[in-house]
Amino acid sequence: MTKVLVIGACGQIGTELTTALRLKYGNENVIAADIRLLTDTEFRIRPYIQLSVLDKVSLHALVLREKITVIYHLAATLSATGEKQPLKAWDLNMQGLLNVLEIAKTDQLKVFWPSSIAVYGANGPKAFSPQHSIMEPSTVYGISKVSGELWCKYYHEQYGVDVRSIRYPGLISYTAEPGGGTTDYAVDIFYHALKHRTYTCFLKPHTALPMMYMADAVRATMQLMEASNEKLTVRTGYNILGISFTPAQLAEAITKHLPVFTINYKPDRRQNIADSWPASVDDRHARHDWDWEPQYNLTTIVSEMLRNIKI
Ligand code: SER
Repeated sequence: MTKVLVIGACGQIGTELTTALRLKYGNENVIAADIRLLTDTEFRIRPYIQLSVLDKVSLHALVLREKITVIYHLAATLSATGEKQPLKAWDLNMQGLLNVLEIAKTDQLKVFWPSSIAVYGANGPKAFSPQHSIMEPSTVYGISKVSGELWCKYYHEQYGVDVRSIRYPGLISYTAEPGGGTTDYAVDIFYHALKHRTYTCFLKPHTALPMMYMADAVRATMQLMEASNEKLTVRTGYNILGISFTPAQLAEAITKHLPVFTINYKPDRRQNIADSWPASVDDRHARHDWDWEPQYNLTTIVSEMLRNIKI
């Protein structure tokens, strides 16, 4: 029987992935864990356990107690926050993963771990960055994701751990806030558009980045985890592309619904991070190996976001 543990369940991905996993496996078979104390407003993600992935003893005890068979380990510090406290970000992103991989090795668990477009750096190709490419990230987040991918591959090859990973693009959703990334503008903009009719963007107007609607990201994650082992040819992190757009293009799509909306630009340090990332990625491996195909485009993302955000 499948018994799932989601670590980082209160985060942007965790909130929606936990719900989707519960629909599939049943509430009682998906344990949500996060370092946060749960408030009443987050009641919907119970059963819930407060846990730090850095506390390996408690994590292992939980895995044994609940007879966990699959871990989705989503707890991480993202790109912009990571630059403020690089060593703390490294510790959480790396040691957290190693704790999960070690327990997976001992107890033969299946693992999902999110990687990111941040694995790429300024020296790689900008358009349709290949699956296998130059990886010289400039952020501590990116360094932790490249290293984490290599650890995943190592645990798979050396110990047979079935660990799978996706390089998520910037994720757009309305159920939980993004956690301090460079692509967060593409979520913030909707709240500001609805509330203030104007937004000051921290990236320049023509900064194209790979992006994806959360429903696509959740579907991709579950599809990869269900794919048969023999079909998987990538044991680092799979590239998946939803769409690629710039702040100017997103603003234009919003003005089709809200003609009074205006955007200003005040680039900050996050611009340097965005400049080091690709504008789009080549996701042919994911399409070939486990039939990846996105369903949302810019038009559908914008109308879904504006329809669902409650101000
Ligand atoms: N959305 C992430 C970030 O901006 C990228 O994986 O940090």
